[in-house]
This record gives sequence, structure tokens and C-alpha cells, in this order.
Amino acid sequence: MANTKDRVVIFDTTLRDGEQCPGATMTLDEKLAVAELLDGMGVDIIEAGFPIASNGDFEAVSEIARRTKRATVAGLARAIPADIARAGEAVRHAQRGRIHTFVSTSAIHLAHQMRKTQDEVIEIILKTVAQARDLVEDVEWSAMDATRTDIDYLCRCVEAAIRAGATTINLPDTVGYATPQEYGAMFRAVRERVPDADKAIFSVHCHDDLGLAVANSLAGLEGGARQIECTVNGIGERAGNAALEEIVMAIRTRADVMPYDTGIDTTMLTRASKLVSHAANFPVQYNKAIVGRNAFAHESGIHQDGMLKHSETYEIMTPASVGLAKTSLVMGKHSGRAAFKSKLAELGISLSDNQMQDVFERFKDLADRKKHVYDEDIEALVDQNLATAHDRIKLVSLSVIAGTRGPQRATMKIEMDGRTFTEEADGNGPVDAVFNAIHAMVPHDTVLELYQVHAVTEGTDAQAEVSVRLKAGERSVTARGADPDTLVASAKAYLSALNKLSAVSVRLHAQHAAVV
Ligand code: KIV
Ligand code: ZN
Repeated sequence: MANTKDRVVIFDTTLRDGEQCPGATMTLDEKLAVAELLDGMGVDIIEAGFPIASNGDFEAVSEIARRTKRATVAGLARAIPADIARAGEAVRHAQRGRIHTFVSTSAIHLAHQMRKTQDEVIEIILKTVAQARDLVEDVEWSAMDATRTDIDYLCRCVEAAIRAGATTINLPDTVGYATPQEYGAMFRAVRERVPDADKAIFSVHCHDDLGLAVANSLAGLEGGARQIECTVNGIGERAGNAALEEIVMAIRTRADVMPYDTGIDTTMLTRASKLVSHAANFPVQYNKAIVGRNAFAHESGIHQDGMLKHSETYEIMTPASVGLAKTSLVMGKHSGRAAFKSKLAELGISLSDNQMQDVFERFKDLADRKKHVYDEDIEALVDQNLATAHDRIKLVSLSVIAGTRGPQRATMKIEMDGRTFTEEADGNGPVDAVFNAIHAMVPHDTVLELYQVHAVTEGTDAQAEVSVRLKAGERSVTARGADPDTLVASAKAYLSALNKLSAVSVRLHAQHAAVV
């Protein structure tokens, strides 16, 4: 039987709209790793950045354009000639390159942001889309704030963009204001009223301010759109963008009511989520659909009973379909070595006997302090074990005096190239004292760009996972440390970042020993 499903194009903007969200900045290496995974996962278009925004963005888009094997690589540009030229230059080496240019169309944006008349904006659309078309075959035009734009004027803008050569028309819900019914109706109206509408693919782009981004995106498909713009884990401006994994799994799971196909290998969704969460330093909420820690965890007795009898009693999709080996069952202090081993296997982790012994001891230690040990705790233990195995600088011990009296004082012992060093340092708070102690033992020229703490799981006994980003010259590295004690986790993260820098030959000026 012929496949009657319509193909929906997945346009991922994790590296552009996603990276725009506060604190989510990624290094070039992190962006390259994310782009490679997106390409391998079957994303059709990777929006790799906003080339005019900075040299870093330009470099990232150009490098992703050079390396990407399958997907189209897009660069964003405002409706300004210099932006469009820069985006064209950045995607020049792509096997398939796209310029994505946008301009505001709503009355409120025209009056207060653009200070232009409707006719002036139509002229801008005609000129800038034509300029982009001179540079590349594949041009996307977006009507920023489309959902708050007068429909007659929106139709005029879309008509102009298609006439000037746009091949994709994106109608974003920039401020996350639309309802699904309105959003679907807008696509139907524009596609019916604009002559030559069938010459372009229509695209949805939804923000989640009212929690409707995914619902709106799917409603847009019903209205005739065939491209969805989305981000991994839904990261993005303010409340974020529509989440790629939710859209893809909704389409797959409810194929009975949504006759569409995406080219996504859904078994890579969990990996993509973890990679983006780590690269962007953006934790995924526990109850996040598809990729949250609890998405496939069944704690209540009735649910566990049902699951053991027949998994479809409480599961509408299998964990394997999103790349999770098995439903997550929580471990505790009574779990033995065999259960621990099988949990590691389930998580796709293989360790040597020595590593296994070490991680198991750490697990037992943690389970003594914590009621439930989750998959994430185990992954953090293993990450920590593997990340520190070849470190030149290791934390031996740390004690900190903190509290209202002050001064906060850290006493730390480290091992560096087989020698031990001890230092005592004060600070403006305990974390500052810890970092000052490290600085005194391993003097170095770096800037602390980020210090972030999040709990690996819930509860006051949860492990703290600290992320530290250090910049040395042009290079930034991010490293993590996990421990139930936040200060120990902070020290581990900072030392791990120094180890990463030293591994890439950035010169650290050590007082006691040379770390080069
Ligand atoms: O939300 C938005 O309108 C955008 C455009 C640049 C497409 O991100
Ligand atoms: Zn957006």
C-alpha cells in the first residue's frame, strides 16, 4: 500500500533560538557536537546561528555548514543587507545552505520597534528576499509576530515574499500568544488567500509563553504547514520554543489522527536531550514529556503492578522508542552488586572491573545518604569517575568554615602530578574561599564565566551538580562536579575545568608544579 502520510520537515533551531535563552551559551565545540548529532538523528534543517551577531556565531555557522553531511544548514539574518550578506557568506560552503531572513509585521512592532509604515516594510521584504535569493536558492522568510498581525496585511507581506523568491514562509507565534484554533486558522486563511501560496512550504515557529507551543505547532500542520521549527528540550527565549522531542513523538504515537512522517530517528531523542542539556548547561525538568527523568518512571503501587502485568496499561510509547533502554526503576541502599551491574547495562554504561568496584563503592556510599538513587545519580557518579581518571590535579580533601560569623575559610589538599599540596584561603563566601585556595595552589589566568548549581535529583539529600566555565584566551571549557556536598562539587568542577584546560595545552602558571 502506498504511503499516504505527508512528510513534515523538521527545522531545529536549538543552536539559534535555543542558544538565545539566558545562560545557554555553547562553545564552538559544543555546537559542533550538537549539530553532528542533529544531522545523524535526521533533522532536515539545522539553524546554526545568527552570523552577523558575533564572530563566534559566524564561525559556528560556517564550520557547521562545512561539516554537515545531510541536513540543510541555515543562517539567520534581519531584513538588512549587511545581515543577509553575512549569512550568505556563512552558509556558502554548505552542501545545502539556507538564508533565513525575518522582519516584523504586526502593527505594534511597526509602530514602536521598526518605526516604519506598512508600505515601507513591503518594500523591505521585496528587496531583502531578492538579495538573499541572489546568494542562495533556498530562502526562508519569517513574519515576526505574525500571530498579532492584521490578516490582510500579513497576506500582502507573504505575497511579496513569495514574489521575491522565498521558498519557505514561516509565520511565528513570536510572543507565545496564539491558541491552537487561531494558529491553525491563520495558516488556512493565508494559504487560501495568497496567490501562489502553493509555491512555498509554510512553517510553524511557536514560543511557549502560555504552554501551547507544541499544541500550536500541531494545529499549524492541520492548517497546511509542513515545516516545524523547534528546539531540543524546548530551550529558547523566555519560556522556550516548541520541543522537538514532544512534536516528533506526538506525531509518531498519534499517527491515527496525525497522518505525517518526520525523518527523525526517535531512538536518538534521549541522547540529544542529554547532550543539549549538558552543552547548554540547562537542566531538564523532572516531569518533562519524553525526556524528563520521570517520563517513564512508575512509582505508585497500582501503576507498578499494572506495568509488571502489561506495559501498555500505563505506557503509550516504549522507553526504547526514545532511546531509553528500559523503564526507570529507582535503586536504593538494599540494591546489590548484581542489580547495580544490570542498571549500568541498562544505561548503556560498560566499566572495567576496577572502575565497577570504584563506582559501586561510591554508589553504596551515596545510597547510605540518599533514600532513592536515580539513573541520573548513577550517571553522575560514572561521569565523575571517568572524567577524573586521568586528571593531573585531583581533590584529596576539603573542609570549609562557613556561616554568619565569617570569614569563610577553606582548607584544601590536592594532588598534582603525584605530589600533594595544601592551602588555606579566605573568601567572600565559602565558594569564593574554595576557589581562592585552588588559585593559590595552581595560579592561572582564566576568567570564571559561569558558576551554576543544580540538584541532580529532588530532596535536601540530593547530589549537587556544579557547572563551571573557565575562559583562557579564546578558549572556554565547561566542566562539572557532583557530590552531595555543594562545596566539594564546586571544587571538583573547578579542578575538572583546569584539568580540561591543561589537557588542551593552555598554559597554567603553577606555583608549586608546572601544569602546562
Ligand atoms: O520567534 C521569532 O519570531 C523568531 C524569528 C526570528 C523567526 O525567532
Ligand atoms: Zn523564535
